[in-house]
Amino acid sequence: MGDAVTRVLVTGGAGFIGSTLTDRLLADGHEVTVVDNLSTGKLANLHAARRDPDLPLTFQRVDITSDALERVVAKARPQVVLHLAAQIDVRASVADPVHDAMVNVVGTVNLLEASRRHGVEKVVLTTSGGCIYGEPSVDELPVDEDYPGHPHSPYGASKRGVEEYLHTYAALYDLRWTSLALANVYGPRQDPGGEAGVVSIFGGRMLAGEPVTIFGDGRQTRDFVFVDDVVHAFVLAMERGDGVRCNIGTGERTSVNELFGVLADVTGYAGAPEYAAARPGELAHISLATGRAATALGWKPWTTLREGLTATVDWLRG
Ligand SMILES: NC(=O)c1ccc[n+]([C@@H]2O[C@H](COP(=O)([O-])OP(=O)(O)OC[C@H]3O[C@@H](n4cnc5c(N)ncnc54)[C@H](O)[C@@H]3O)[C@@H](O)[C@H]2O)c1
Repeated sequence: MGDAVTRVLVTGGAGFIGSTLTDRLLADGHEVTVVDNLSTGKLANLHAARRDPDLPLTFQRVDITSDALERVVAKARPQVVLHLAAQIDVRASVADPVHDAMVNVVGTVNLLEASRRHGVEKVVLTTSGGCIYGEPSVDELPVDEDYPGHPHSPYGASKRGVEEYLHTYAALYDLRWTSLALANVYGPRQDPGGEAGVVSIFGGRMLAGEPVTIFGDGRQTRDFVFVDDVVHAFVLAMERGDGVRCNIGTGERTSVNELFGVLADVTGYAGAPEYAAARPGELAHISLATGRAATALGWKPWTTLREGLTATVDWLRG
């Protein structure tokens, strides 16, 4: 594919990460078809791209579990599929694991079927580095892709399980694939309800001068990675990293208390956090080793936490 224009299908392209990725692909000169059912995504996320009539962007409001998906793939004839559409709520997956599996497993298989029937060369899957490895102990962190833990949520199970189909489709149809296991992604456009919504929730409340609640003692740690760095990994995976899962994070652990401190500094918030009981089932600590992303993709995160939080707060201000 090289520097040539590539036809790309982005599922979940009206969401937080997918719309940021769509903007990047259009800026790189590619032709993009977005598939999204707008269950959590918003058309407003695509407004900037849509305003420019010269940009080759098509939007299809379609559910990935529906028959209509194949018609979209047949018409768009993408060479690459970047698959981000998902049921992303961990607690919702515990409450309704069947719905989670319908979207994350059946929807993905539906997409793989349409892909192999209509000449797609490569599929990039989005998985969750925070949920597929279970609960590693602190001395096992950062975890690499071979860590043997098992998911503790139906969301983690559906994300992990569906990767097996990638191996199957590669064996049956020579469909190329890469799976990106994302850490806690944050940045502009993130819905406060998302997996790492803590940044937008805290930032929004601080800017409004409202109290901020930390669940637990705030010493739980996460691997926060900025959305532009994540988007760059997808762009690299269009051509590299075939047949492997790559963790996409920073390898650093940041406690929720530290996050509060940097965000308070960036927003000029003077209040102290309020502490509430820890939420059941919440992971204590996670961080991802990214050596494979460096060798297989040539990827490294560029953005420091302070830079990323400053960009996010600027967006929240707007
Ligand atoms: N945000 C994170 O920290 C994080 C971490 C790990 C993995 N991920 C993964 O990254 C991907 C994108 O997540 P996000 O944070 O941008 O969330 P998001 O909710 O903003 O994006 C998901 C998009 O998928 C769409 N969607 C959901 N169900 C659909 C369906 N059945 N058919 C068509 N479209 C559907 C939604 O409308 C939304 O636009 C997901 O696969 C998620 O599991 C995110």
